[in-house]
Amino acid sequence: MMKSIKNKKTISESTILVTGGTGYIGSHTVVALIAAGFNPVIVDNLSNSKASVLDRIKKITGKRPPFYKLDMRNRAALNKVFQKHQIASVIHFAGLKAVGESVAEPLRYYENNIQSTITLCNVMAKHGVKKIIFSSSASVYGQASGIPIREDSAPAPTNPYARSKWIIEQILQDVYIADPGWRMVLLRYFNPVGAHESGQMGEDPRGIPNNLMPYISQVAVGRRNKINVFGNDYPTSDGTGVRDYIHVMDLAEGHIAALKKMEKKTLWKSKQNPIIINLGTGRGYTVMEIIQAFSKASGKKIPYRITKRRPGDIAACYADITLAGKLLGWKAKRSLLDMCADAWRWQSRNPQGYP
Ligand code: NAD
Ligand code: UFG
Repeated sequence: MMKSIKNKKTISESTILVTGGTGYIGSHTVVALIAAGFNPVIVDNLSNSKASVLDRIKKITGKRPPFYKLDMRNRAALNKVFQKHQIASVIHFAGLKAVGESVAEPLRYYENNIQSTITLCNVMAKHGVKKIIFSSSASVYGQASGIPIREDSAPAPTNPYARSKWIIEQILQDVYIADPGWRMVLLRYFNPVGAHESGQMGEDPRGIPNNLMPYISQVAVGRRNKINVFGNDYPTSDGTGVRDYIHVMDLAEGHIAALKKMEKKTLWKSKQNPIIINLGTGRGYTVMEIIQAFSKASGKKIPYRITKRRPGDIAACYADITLAGKLLGWKAKRSLLDMCADAWRWQSRNPQGYP
């Protein structure tokens, strides 16, 4: 009895486990956590990131957070991390995220993403850690019935990646029903882009980028000849697809807001749990607008050609951000030009990405 009370008292509210913390969004969130006075501890299996990001985190913040190279499905290894650190909350980024790859390898995606989360929740429960922020995705909405997309829009995922996120959301819901002592925030990200303003950290995709912004920045830096614009016959202002692009540091700060709110009991009294919140800017831009903005920010010509639509793409997708403002008191601050300028600073100073 004495022991458990003593343990409780020594738990530092400031130690946050960041799974997938060497990845794109995770690493930027680690920087935001340190800036906000938290002590992040990182776990990642480096399947889609490099350990050298830790040097960049140190350069920016002056601190090098503890890092454990482990697979989230390795329960014993994860358990040791919880034994070593007095973890208060977890931000769970670790997962595979390429839509096309998930269609080709559904079992790998389901096994990695879902099993990681189950193992994590088991280990958390064992150590009495019951506060989690989970990286979900706007892709759970699929072809939503209306835009801007509200959180109560019926989920209709259209690929295994998105379905894995939707399944995890439901698993977390069930965990909460079984034990309402949990506090959970499920964040549905729209399109994270950009980089830390220092130019030290940014997105570093392996191989040919799947997504628009990293592809454009590789064209601007001369690694690729031109960007293919997937269709210009959508019912949008210029016929190209519309998305809600959000600066990765705004997104990172959204996690800090969620973390702080999780500490406040009042938020959890009356609200439905887990809380599901969109993180976006609430406005959409077309592919052509992104190309123009990037060209302006970089001073480079971005050659493009119009090709046919990419299978599975939708015309337009942007967030209703009312709930994020209301519950988290958070709103994205950075403009499209900031997103492009920061992505360009990163790409032009690190043409081949991380060493
Ligand atoms: P990322 O690939 O850069 O980062 C994910 C990290 O998780 C990587 O460092 C990878 O090595 C690690 N990882 C994967 N499986 C693991 C495992 N089994 N054990 C340990 N580590 C593992 O991706 P990101 O863009 O930073 O995305 C972070 C999270 O946000 C993901 O869950 C992703 O699905 C979600 N998300 C991303 C986007 C986006 O467009 N980037 C949009 C919506 C949601
Ligand atoms: N696009 C091009 N050319 C390219 C790449 C993309 O024209 O080379 C277009 C797409 O057709 C779309 C827009 O640019 O209209 C954005 O495409 P992305 O691939 O950058 O982003 P998506 O909205 O398709 O998907 C992204 C992530 C998903 C995530 C989703 C919602 O890839 O994982 O945002 O958060 F789920």
